[in-house]
Amino acid sequence: MEISLRQTQVMEILLAFVVVGLLSSKGAESRNRRVLDSFEYSAISCRTHSASITDFGGVGDGITSNTKAFQSAINSLSQYASDGGAQLFVPEGKWLTGSFNLTSHFTLYLHKDAVLLASQDVSEWSVINPLPSYGRGRDAVGGRYISLIFGTNLTDVVITGANGTIDGQGALWWQKFHGKKLKYTRPYLIEILHSDLVQISNLTLVNSPSWNVHPVYSSNVLVQGVTIIAPITSPNTDGINPDSCSNVKIEDCYIISGDDCVAVKSGWDEYGIAYGMPTKGLIIRRLTCISPYSAVIALGSEMSGGIQDVRAEDIVAIHTESGVRIKTAVGRGGYVKDIYVKGMTMKTMKWAFWMTGNYGSHADTHYDPKALPVIKGINYRDMVAENVTMAGRLEGISGDPFTGICISNVTIALAPKPKKVQWLCTDVEGVTSGVVPQPCALLPEKSAESPDGMTSCAFPTDTLPVDNMEFKKCSYKRNYIL
Ligand SMILES: *[C@@H]1O[C@H](CO)[C@@H](O)[C@H](O)[C@H]1NC(C)=O
Ligand SMILES: *[C@@H]1O[C@H](CO)[C@@H](O)[C@H](O)[C@H]1NC(C)=O
Ligand SMILES: *[C@@H]1O[C@H](CO)[C@@H](O)[C@H](O)[C@H]1NC(C)=O
Ligand SMILES: *[C@@H]1O[C@H](CO)[C@@H](O)[C@H](O)[C@H]1NC(C)=O
Ligand SMILES: *[C@@H]1O[C@H](CO)[C@@H](O)[C@H](O)[C@H]1NC(C)=O
Ligand SMILES: *[C@@H]1O[C@H](CO)[C@@H](O)[C@H](O)[C@H]1NC(C)=O
Repeated sequence: MEISLRQTQVMEILLAFVVVGLLSSKGAESRNRRVLDSFEYSAISCRTHSASITDFGGVGDGITSNTKAFQSAINSLSQYASDGGAQLFVPEGKWLTGSFNLTSHFTLYLHKDAVLLASQDVSEWSVINPLPSYGRGRDAVGGRYISLIFGTNLTDVVITGANGTIDGQGALWWQKFHGKKLKYTRPYLIEILHSDLVQISNLTLVNSPSWNVHPVYSSNVLVQGVTIIAPITSPNTDGINPDSCSNVKIEDCYIISGDDCVAVKSGWDEYGIAYGMPTKGLIIRRLTCISPYSAVIALGSEMSGGIQDVRAEDIVAIHTESGVRIKTAVGRGGYVKDIYVKGMTMKTMKWAFWMTGNYGSHADTHYDPKALPVIKGINYRDMVAENVTMAGRLEGISGDPFTGICISNVTIALAPKPKKVQWLCTDVEGVTSGVVPQPCALLPEKSAESPDGMTSCAFPTDTLPVDNMEFKKCSYKRNYIL
């Protein structure tokens, strides 16, 4: 039977009504529904081409593996890199997948009820070389399992969503780690190497096997509106680790984890010294951290390429071991300098301030014992802390003191059972002003300069280039069959 043009038109009109009807009856259950997906979001670049993971055979049932669907979607969409770029939409559902690689001028967007579930099949994780600035994997000598979402040598890549979820299902890996059964270093959730213009925003990352977000050897990196959740006892589940990166901004993030909420790094011992790539120009704003066994912001311990110009403000810590912590050791070389922190509220802390010059933890025995780290220009101001066991434990390196420490306008209220000595200072030099309880003799009160009798430690007023990166209003519009 032939269908006339008229009949086809009628059917199209009917179909349009069905779509409108489905959209207006939210949550209506039906099979094979046709859905119009249309939304807006903010990103550093918008894309000309769009696709959904379902166009590439993706199945969001939590059981079917989508590794091939993701990789073929991204391989196919990479053809648009020089033609306005492409965005890949992941609708609501549970999308089991192994690792996949990103491409340039590309956006991965997760619906608010989309969950990427990391595969539990170890054979789905290829093994890649250790980072040259580390010389080995952190869990085991040699290679590392590739991260769930991996990208290298890219320009302009966005991973975002309406707070969609990436679930690393890390328990399997934590058990392997504790049982010393790892042949290679555990995978991270997101790792981006050698890339420029990277946005990671409005996502929830849960139960990573190890670190969550690891930009390395990259520049112009924005991490914004990311929630990271892992059990507080899970091993090495660091939140965000900018590593040998320049021009990085971390804003409006909320992190509960088993390790440092933000860990700033730049390579390990002789490997990091040889690679020589610092982390420089890092802004951290409005970070909330819960990490009872680790730091809010750690600088190191791998800092052999240097860390310079870190600006952190409006930080909240709840039940965290220490605030900003410097971790280093003889043999690391490198430097940590020009660090500025202002506006920090801390509740229930073991140490408000902690610097560790004997962190140890070497890549191997070939480190240079003459490679001494330079730690100088560390500025902390405008902080209030409650329920603190010990105000400060500042331990530099004998013969290599940490210098230029400045702490001002800080009030620390002690826990019911505090340490008797509130400040333990060795091999450090600096000044303080308006700090309660009274700091150690190595950090004497500086004479008042300002009218209110308080000397402020520096906080830069100039703008870093990363603050000039702007968001555009992007949109996605597509029909698809669910
Ligand atoms: C993140 O989400 C918030 C609130 O939903 C929105 O205002 C903001 O533009 C989003 N930002 C990015 C970078 O995706
Ligand atoms: C992803 O990139 C890594 C590193 O370049 C490579 O080893 C791996 O084979 C790639 N994976 C796929 C599926 O192409
Ligand atoms: C990626 O970039 C780095 C640094 O520029 C370079 O050494 C490396 O060869 C590049 N890798 C690929 C696969 O292009
Ligand atoms: C995103 O989801 C997480 C986990 O459900 C939640 O804690 C957080 O408040 C959400 N963020 C936003 C901005 O809705
Ligand atoms: C104070 O800190 C201790 C741990 O040192 C904790 O057990 C207690 O609940 C905290 N009290 C308050 C009021 O947060
Ligand atoms: C001292 O720090 C508090 C925040 O803890 C801030 O509100 C106040 O303005 C600061 N005072 C000066 C003189 O900077």
